[in-house]
Amino acid sequence: MKSIQVGLLGIGTVGSGTYNVLRRNQQEIQRRAGRGIEVTMVADLDVDRAKALVGPGVAVVNDARAVIANPDIDIVVELIGGYGIAKALVLEAIEAGKHVVTANKALLAVHGTEIFAAAHRKGVMVAFEAAVAGGIPIIKALREGLTANRIQWVAGIINGTTNFILSEMRDKGLDFSVVLQEAQRLGYAEADPTFDIEGVDAAHKATLMSAIAFGIPVQFDKAYVEGITRLGAQDIQYAEQLGYRIKLLGIAKRRSSGIELRVHPSLVPAKRLIANVEGAMNAVMVHGDAVGTTLYYGKGAGSEPTASAVIADLVDITRLHTADTAQRVPHLAFQPDAISFNEGDLPVLPMSEVVTSYYLRLRVADQAGVLAKVTGILADAGISIDAVIQREADEVGGEGSTQTDLIILTHDCVEAQMDAAIAHMQALPTVLTAITRIRKEELA
Ligand code: HSE
Repeated sequence: MKSIQVGLLGIGTVGSGTYNVLRRNQQEIQRRAGRGIEVTMVADLDVDRAKALVGPGVAVVNDARAVIANPDIDIVVELIGGYGIAKALVLEAIEAGKHVVTANKALLAVHGTEIFAAAHRKGVMVAFEAAVAGGIPIIKALREGLTANRIQWVAGIINGTTNFILSEMRDKGLDFSVVLQEAQRLGYAEADPTFDIEGVDAAHKATLMSAIAFGIPVQFDKAYVEGITRLGAQDIQYAEQLGYRIKLLGIAKRRSSGIELRVHPSLVPAKRLIANVEGAMNAVMVHGDAVGTTLYYGKGAGSEPTASAVIADLVDITRLHTADTAQRVPHLAFQPDAISFNEGDLPVLPMSEVVTSYYLRLRVADQAGVLAKVTGILADAGISIDAVIQREADEVGGEGSTQTDLIILTHDCVEAQMDAAIAHMQALPTVLTAITRIRKEELA
C-alpha cells in the first residue's frame, strides 16, 4: 500500500527530529501503522538549510501554502508556532481536507474551539500530543487510557525551563535573576523567556488538559496565570525546612461549582514523587475516581522527545483516517455535542473562588504581640493555621536586628478569604514589607 505522505511546515528542532525518527524507525513504525509514513514535502523559509536536513526525495519549498495545495499530501504537520500565520495555515489545511498534527499549544489553547469545529465539519483530525509535556503521552492517557474515569484533578510540572530554574535556585541557593541568566547561557531558556517564566506556556498546556479532562471548551482567557519571577531564594529554603519543594504547577481541578484552572508556584510536599522532578523534566499527575492517582514523567521538550509525540499522532491518523468519523477518538475526548459550552454547567471559576492552602511570609518588627495580631486576623477570617515558624531576628537581619520573618502555613480556605486577611495583615504597622503568599498543594 502507498505510504501516507506527510508535509512539514517548518523544519527546526522538532521538524528535523520528526524527519530523523521517522526514517530511523521506519520499519517498526510501518509494522505498527499498517503502512509506511513518509515526509515527502517540507516548507521552510530557509530552503538551503532545510535541503541539507532531508534526503533528495523530499521536495523543499519556502511557501507553506504549496504543501497545503499538494493533493498528494495526506497530513500537514504544523511546527511554526504562535497564533499568527500558523492559525491561518492550520485552518487552510483543514479546509483543503488535510489532517493536521501540531505541537502548537498557544494556538490550540486560544483558538482551539474554532479549529476543532472546522476540523469536525471537514471530517479531518487535528492531533496535538506534542503540544502538552513534549514526549509524555499525556493527551493519550487523558483522552483514552483514563476514559473510564470521572477525572477529579490534573496537576503538572509542564514547563521545563521554569523547573530547571527552580531546581537550580534550590540546589545553589541563588535568586531567580541569577539562575535565569545561567539558564539562558546553557540554552534552557530562550533569549526572550517571557512565556515560560511568566507561566503562559504552562497555562496553554493546562488549558488543553482541562478541556480533555472535564469536557469543557478550551478557555485560556479564563486561566489564572502567575509565573516564577517573584520567587526568592529564601522562600525556597523556608519551604524546604517545612518539608516542601516549590514547583510551578499547572492545575485543573473539578469542584462542585466549576473548574479551577490555574498556573502558579506551589509548595508541594517533598515526599511526593512529583516534588522530586528536577531540571528540565516534566511530570503530570492525574486523579481519576476509578484509577486513583497516576503519574506520568519524561522529557517535555527537545527534538526527538517531541518528535516521538508528533509521530504517535501520525500513526494514529494513519490507522484511523479511513474510519468513519464517528469511530475516531474525539479531538477533546468528549463528543463535540457533549462538551459543556453552557457557562452554567461547568464554568471556569474566578481565582477568588479557588480553594487551596497557603504559605505566607511576613517580614515583621520583632516586638511583643505581633504574632498574636497576625494569627488573630487569620482566626477572624476563619482561616486555620497548620504551622508557624518564627526565625531568630539575628539570623534574618544580622546581629542586633529588630526585624524577623514569620512563616505561616494554613489549611484550605477560599482565595477571597485569604485576600482579605492579607490586606488586613498588610495594614499592620509592624508588617514591614509586602507579604509573600505562595499557594500549597498537598496532591494527596
Ligand atoms: N518552553 C517549553 C518548556 C517547551 O520549557 O517546557 C515547549 O513547550
